[in-house]
Amino acid sequence: MPPSKKTQTVFICSQCGYESRKWLGQCPDCSAWDTLSEQQQVRQKASRATSRKPESLQAVKEKETTRLVTSIHEMDRVLGGGIVPGSMILIGGDPGIGKSTLILQLLAALSGQDKQLLYVTGEESAQQIRMRAERLKIDSPHIYISTENCVESIIELARDMQPVLLAVDSIQTMYSEEIGSAPGSVTQVRESTARLLTLAKSRDLPVLLVGHVTKDGSIAGPRVLEHMVDTVLYFEGDRGQVFRIVRTVKNRFGSTNEIGVFEMKENGLAEVTNPSALFLAERPVNVPGSVVMPSIEGTRPILVEVQALVSRSSPGNARRTAIGADPQRLALLTAVLEKKLGVTLFDHDIFLNIAGGIRIDEPALDLGMVVALLSSLFEKTIDPATVVCGEVGLAGEIRAVGQMEMRLREAERLGFSTFIMPESSMRQIKGAGKKRMRCVPVRTVDGLADHLFQGE
Ligand code: TYD
Ligand code: MG
Repeated sequence: MPPSKKTQTVFICSQCGYESRKWLGQCPDCSAWDTLSEQQQVRQKASRATSRKPESLQAVKEKETTRLVTSIHEMDRVLGGGIVPGSMILIGGDPGIGKSTLILQLLAALSGQDKQLLYVTGEESAQQIRMRAERLKIDSPHIYISTENCVESIIELARDMQPVLLAVDSIQTMYSEEIGSAPGSVTQVRESTARLLTLAKSRDLPVLLVGHVTKDGSIAGPRVLEHMVDTVLYFEGDRGQVFRIVRTVKNRFGSTNEIGVFEMKENGLAEVTNPSALFLAERPVNVPGSVVMPSIEGTRPILVEVQALVSRSSPGNARRTAIGADPQRLALLTAVLEKKLGVTLFDHDIFLNIAGGIRIDEPALDLGMVVALLSSLFEKTIDPATVVCGEVGLAGEIRAVGQMEMRLREAERLGFSTFIMPESSMRQIKGAGKKRMRCVPVRTVDGLADHLFQGE
């Protein structure tokens, strides 16, 4: 029995995908104004005959999955060890950041395996892809380009060709014939993805989807896609800078928050194998307001430089800006310092920056921010061979953070000799580590200054 279809009119928010039966000026879900537009929605009722009998958990056979290893190590890392057959991977990022370049390089890396790869592009012509391939020195007989925009045709194409991988660039340019609305609308993006998802799962075909990000940072068409796909990778980094960071935001087949670091060069994205060295490359030494923090991104340690600039402003107009760190966290730490150290900051502008365009989310950054702020405020430098990390609580207490051994090893590898850390984290460091590096335990922000500006 074929599935029955019913069309109905709904109003969908272009920001978050919220659905309403009637028009509303403001979206009740994401609070955006004037984002609901009228669309036709196809509701498919699955036919009963296809429903499957439940089976016992014990009886479910474990399937052996061989991941497609791309041999671009930074990519394999963010994917959790390669591409899982039948998985759907969404690559999001600002226009011009390098998504299409990455896709082409991925396909090239996989093309050595003598199997066909299908690259569907709705954004560029085949000639444009060819020109990019020449720039990247990619010349493979196994990469096939299609400029088809209709999802039903793409599915048919994939069924005939049987590629080992399908890349769709971008999902916003694709449309399904069965839906009336324009490509790029929430309904189209969602329905097209749903159809491609069925293809991926039924054929064990991995599908790479490119998705543009809107100004507010959500994938256009938008976050509605995140829960449908298996893996979500985001491109981070400033277009003005050469570093590109691919971060795993969601992964059903691996850990999240893993990052891959690349450099955009004349002939494509190059892997950065030693990111710590890269992020510290331009660090000014013996300048107030700068300190190094060993961060853990996914499963790997990366040293970053935390910079702060605290300067006098007229009271009432003080600015707080954080780039690469959470501005709320900065506000909170500023308040803690005012309360616990008695310093006045309400009449100071505070700027905080993580050098190199990387974003750090973990609480261990707190102590790095606090130290950089104090260093700039007091105009005193931090010993350049010192690293700091730890979470700071509202009472000014410095709390333990995880993976201290790993952080210590990375700091040691890059030539640092002193590690200022939460007292309660000291026991995580084994005896050998303590011998290799001077570990300074701190308990509260009050006592911090004594350790920071020693010998001055
Ligand atoms: P692209 O992959 O087209 O971005 P997206 O698909 O995310 O929109 O990359 C575009 C930018 O990258 C463009 O500004 C040029 C730059 N670029 C290089 O610097 N080197 C290269 O080898 C390539 C192919 C692009
Ligand atoms: Mg592109």
